[in-house]
Amino acid sequence: MNPAGYDRLQSQVIPGYGSLARLAVALLSCSPEARATGSEVLVAGCGTGAELLEAVAQRPDWQLTALDPSAEMLAESQQRLSNAPATASAAIRWQQSTVEDLVNQTGMEGRFSGGLSVLVLQSLPDDGSKLAFLSALARCLKPGAQLVLVDLMRSAQSSLEPQLDAAWLAFQAASGLDASAALGASQGLHPIGLARLTSLVNAAGFGDPARIFQALGFEGFLLQKQA
Ligand SMILES: C[S@@+](CC[C@H](N)C(=O)[O-])C[C@H]1O[C@@H](n2cnc3c(N)ncnc32)[C@H](O)[C@@H]1O
Repeated sequence: MNPAGYDRLQSQVIPGYGSLARLAVALLSCSPEARATGSEVLVAGCGTGAELLEAVAQRPDWQLTALDPSAEMLAESQQRLSNAPATASAAIRWQQSTVEDLVNQTGMEGRFSGGLSVLVLQSLPDDGSKLAFLSALARCLKPGAQLVLVDLMRSAQSSLEPQLDAAWLAFQAASGLDASAALGASQGLHPIGLARLTSLVNAAGFGDPARIFQALGFEGFLLQKQA
């Protein structure tokens, strides 16, 4: 994934992308575990830093671990955060790693009071990779801690589906995205339906997903690690 132009592309493809990180952080900030001052929070797949910018602005007291396997994304994120005024007082530990590798490092199991995973699960195939990612996230969290998960979902079959598909293309065109770029943006994604997500998160150690928003195919859920 190329960090150059990443944020503009996402806002052309995802309705509401501009406020997604703000909403995700606000939700986690009010969760039973992460609302405590100084909570340790994991930002899984931090990409170019959208959730981190919001986290340091809303919760400068949080101790953040910013994680991404891509050196390019991590560098872009670090650069962006270094220019943010709120970052000066924030504690951020940077890790070039997957969540699956992080959890096997000493002291990471059961460490975090909350987690954010925005637009990451959708890129992993459902061949064991999604379950490995979700299981690692659950293992990183304290019992009762919550994860905000945002992803492209496979739509439930409904008579509205052709209209919704057409509306998504119309949204992208109206946002200035040409047809080939729109096609490129949807490639390499592996959306799943709600029933499959529920089965995967339960197997990983979370309770049932609670949907907290939806914009066309993009849905946000709160997941709570089983006590
Ligand atoms: C589409 S970007 C999302 C970035 C950011 N969260 C956002 O909302 O804009 C997905 C990111 O997840 C990272 N990623 C992929 N697999 C991962 C894994 N197993 N653990 C952690 N991050 C991963 C990718 O390197 C990429 O930067």
